[in-house]
Amino acid sequence: MKAIRIHSHGGPEVMRWEDVEIPPPGPGEARLRHTAIALNFSDINIRRGGFYQKDPLPMPLIPGNEAAGVVEAIGPGVTEVKVGDRVGYVGVGAGFFAKTAAYAEQRNVPAARLAHLPDGIADVQAASVMLKGLTASNIVNRIYRPASGDIVLIHAAASGVGLLLAQWCKHFGAVVIGTVGNAEKAKIARAHGCDHTILYRETDFVAAVKAIAPGGARAVLDGVGLDTFEKSMDCAAPFGTLVNYGNASGHVPPIDIMQLSLKGTLCMWRPGVSHFLGDPQRFRTLCAELFALVEKGVLKTVATRVYPLAEARKAHEDAERAQFAGPVVLLP
Ligand SMILES: NC(=O)c1ccc[n+]([C@@H]2O[C@H](COP(=O)([O-])OP(=O)(O)OC[C@H]3O[C@@H](n4cnc5c(N)ncnc54)[C@H](OP(=O)(O)O)[C@@H]3O)[C@@H](O)[C@H]2O)c1
Repeated sequence: MKAIRIHSHGGPEVMRWEDVEIPPPGPGEARLRHTAIALNFSDINIRRGGFYQKDPLPMPLIPGNEAAGVVEAIGPGVTEVKVGDRVGYVGVGAGFFAKTAAYAEQRNVPAARLAHLPDGIADVQAASVMLKGLTASNIVNRIYRPASGDIVLIHAAASGVGLLLAQWCKHFGAVVIGTVGNAEKAKIARAHGCDHTILYRETDFVAAVKAIAPGGARAVLDGVGLDTFEKSMDCAAPFGTLVNYGNASGHVPPIDIMQLSLKGTLCMWRPGVSHFLGDPQRFRTLCAELFALVEKGVLKTVATRVYPLAEARKAHEDAERAQFAGPVVLLP
């Protein structure tokens, strides 16, 4: 089969389209023929290297943590799925930066880590929403559930995760302020849950937030990191919640805990989705909830940009330029 592999960390040019052998599925494993593979920002971090990976990753490696596909074969002892089932997965139970291999035509996956896809959810749609939606779910179901009327600030509101978060917060009755990188993204963000948008590269976003919400935002949900997080503290209301769930612009530097007191008795979270999805049964329950919200139209999936898997390099280049809104899927 063919797969995208990297032999060393670096820019998009290190990704190569290569022939790779895979063994038959082992005990407890299912062989998937991938039909839609998600591009997530973590794939870019893994490709670049030196993120918070403590140990060097074994090379060559196939990137990717998330895909939809069809079960083509099962190994001994598998009861969870059968040949022909449509399924999806997010990680395979290891730490998020270990055991990647979704950028491939086929893959053996522990059957316990597979979720069935409902008839109403297309494969590309599943690959567009699972990890990004479960990251949003981790926030609204475990960390901060907006009450009706709460003002919530979401950075990069037109990102894959941002668009789902904005809609989910709106569903709970929040007033959603979204920062975005350009005017086209602002339009898309407003069509997906944002009441207000701020062009945060051109404007002082702290002043813009204060103009909309003089008392500050009850929560700030930040997947941008380095460029936004410190100033985000100045956007929060007293007793507000700060959630840094991603580092698209780089790592947030260490923060003096006293700042949380000085800036208004703030609560700070740094979630990782793998802790939320650790238990396979919970993963399937959370997927079912997510798919139901998509089927009901509560969470609309924006037009997904698709690239052939063989052109993953181009997909990464475009994602790093941050020109477009919404999710990206690679087609084998
Ligand atoms: N904690 C977790 O478990 C978890 C799980 C999944 C994803 N994440 C994180 O969530 C964030 C969003 O992920 P995603 O897959 O939705 O990403 P995405 O769709 O590729 O969007 C990332 C957005 O970040 C903004 N951005 C700001 N500075 C940037 C830079 N220097 N380079 C590239 N983009 C930059 C851009 O939006 P603007 O143009 O509007 O600024 C860009 O569109 C990422 O940080 C990702 O690592 C975290």
